[in-house]
Amino acid sequence: MIEPVTFGDDGVALLDQRQLPHQETWIELDSPEAVATAIRDMVVRGAPAIGVAAGFGMALAARAARGLDEQAFRDRLDAAAETLAAARPTAVNLAWAVERVRDTVRRTLEDGATVAEAAERAEREAVAIKEEDIAANRAMGRHGSMLVPDGARVLTHCNAGALATGGYGTALGVVRAAVEEGKKVTVLADETRPYLQGARLTAWELQKDGIPVTVIADSMAGSLLARGEVDLVVVGADRIARNGDVANKIGTYPLAVMARRHGVPFYVAAPLSTFDPACASGDLIPIEERPSEEVTHLGGMRLVPEGVTARHPAFDVTPAAFVTAIVTEAGIVRAPFPSGIARLLGLEAETAEPIPPDASTDLSADEDENGAEGADTAAVLAAAGDDGEESPPPADGADPGEEELFS
Ligand code: MRU
Repeated sequence: MIEPVTFGDDGVALLDQRQLPHQETWIELDSPEAVATAIRDMVVRGAPAIGVAAGFGMALAARAARGLDEQAFRDRLDAAAETLAAARPTAVNLAWAVERVRDTVRRTLEDGATVAEAAERAEREAVAIKEEDIAANRAMGRHGSMLVPDGARVLTHCNAGALATGGYGTALGVVRAAVEEGKKVTVLADETRPYLQGARLTAWELQKDGIPVTVIADSMAGSLLARGEVDLVVVGADRIARNGDVANKIGTYPLAVMARRHGVPFYVAAPLSTFDPACASGDLIPIEERPSEEVTHLGGMRLVPEGVTARHPAFDVTPAAFVTAIVTEAGIVRAPFPSGIARLLGLEAETAEPIPPDASTDLSADEDENGAEGADTAAVLAAAGDDGEESPPPADGADPGEEELFS
């Protein structure tokens, strides 16, 4: 299994994803600042993977400060946390992992441990973040594979695979699990302009695993959906709001709209660490603006005329109304998302936003009392012949634009 982030006595090692698929180069880093720079520069990318890397960045800070007095140790960790958390703004896993390590250190010290013991505890916590991420991906795969029929043609966007996580992948973990169960699955990978995570990374890791993959330009997805050449769409996420709105790689939102238009289920696979309980809805999710050179240039060559500028919002938000289901390690959640997500995250139901009067309310499905379908329920759905095919819900109550589009 590909594990793009490792940690040991020499520091953090990252598989340099900027060089893929041409070269498999590893970069070794020995400071939190270097880890933050690598995250910003896309050496490592993908929400869970940057969380794992940032956790190790905190462990490096703790290791380097283990000889200091307690206040200086805490100050160093606070500084590292600030630097790491600021590296990229959209993926909530990053801040989540940084806070998890910092909080563990704080509690360890409060319990009377020495600085050296707290530093060791930081390392163990960072290792646990990675191990739990891989375990979560495998669990997600087990739940999500129930939604993948034998012979499925699966469309995905960006790279939500082993490379984007501690290992195994979220969206591609679902594909992997289905293949491991003996199903024949073929993958259509959006190339994912402008950074080409689909063409370079998804294609690379699926080919390595012997899973059939065909790359398409992003602009081809709509017509393939219209021609009935896609059975389901599955993508990852960078942040999921309490109401089920999903931030993911730019180009995900139009894909979800087209999937709905053509009655193809649109699934999101993400660990609980990608949910942001502090974020009520998608419009509150910060969207990273990356350098315009990533749009104007390809492989160092300028594509657009000198003097012409470009925009590069790196993520978009897919309203919950377009999401058929969210696959997590704890089970599968369907609409109504606010109550299902609140229960999944152990939040008080009252803190969830009221369900908006839109199409998502029509995506009803059996829920257990937790608002999530665990493995058993998913198994029941599969046995009952629910192969993930769903017709789009009626547009009643949808906003005027949506109604017009789907009438
Ligand atoms: O800019 P990137 O490559 O970090 O964006 C990655 C994505 O958008 C992924 O789909 C998302 O992080 C989920 S990865 C399991």
